[in-house]
Amino acid sequence: MEGVSKTYGDVVALAGAGIVVRRGEMLAIVGPSGSGKSTMLNIMGTLDRPSAGTVRIDGHTVDALSDRQLSALRARTIGFVFQAFHLAAGVPALDAVADGLLYSGLPRGERRDLAERALRGVGLGERLHNEPHQLSGGEKQRVAIARAVLGEPPLLLADEPTGALDSRAGEVVMEVLHTLHREGTTVVVITHDRDIAASLPREVRIKDGRIEHDSAARNEPGTATGTAVGEAAVERVGA
Ligand SMILES: Nc1ncnc2c1ncn2[C@@H]1O[C@H](COP(=O)(O)OP(=O)(O)OP(=O)(O)O)[C@@H](O)[C@H]1O
Ligand SMILES: [Mg+2]
Repeated sequence: MEGVSKTYGDVVALAGAGIVVRRGEMLAIVGPSGSGKSTMLNIMGTLDRPSAGTVRIDGHTVDALSDRQLSALRARTIGFVFQAFHLAAGVPALDAVADGLLYSGLPRGERRDLAERALRGVGLGERLHNEPHQLSGGEKQRVAIARAVLGEPPLLLADEPTGALDSRAGEVVMEVLHTLHREGTTVVVITHDRDIAASLPREVRIKDGRIEHDSAARNEPGTATGTAVGEAAVERVGA
């Protein structure tokens, strides 16, 4: 993201935010309520378009893509875990996850096999047939993660995945995210939790819609040089 701003009427949600996230990184975005974190994540994930500035993903300038091209890019590149996660009442975990592949063209049996594997991957192999009211908050959040990573997206964006959980359940969810990161997924996590933020390889602090600190930046704010190995997922715009 370079110079990205987002305004809603006279509310400035983001004010010229710049960040480079490289393939294979795991980072925390922290900041007070209303500082623009979700706005930033939604724009990073192409769910929302900026009022000004440039977003590039995997070499594609988002502005230049049609809605259809953008949905295709999003579908193959990005998994989301939303701040207000929601699982439909009465739907067992396995179906909730398998439904994420409804439009994939895969036959039902294969969708369910993949969903089962994803649920085992987040430690819910013994909860496949539980409905939401039979799952703890942390387990529900892990179902949401399983659904987000079903298509093995290279980039996972998670908005307060531990926000509604006690510290033990939060740790389990973070362990799932760390495992995905170790397996090569790029993980961006919004969190209010200072301990979680400090435990990640990179911390980006945002305030009043601006990035006020980036632990990966050497000199200039918002132009991280990155410490992660691997190819740049997002090249520095204009570099
Ligand atoms: N769709 C919208 N319409 C109008 N204002 C909005 C909209 N979305 C966000 N805002 C405003 O933009 C600012 C940033 O919101 P955002 O959701 O990005 O904050 P946040 O950092 O994620 O906060 P929290 O930690 O509480 O989730 C807030 O002042 C919010 O009221
Ligand atoms: Mg938010």
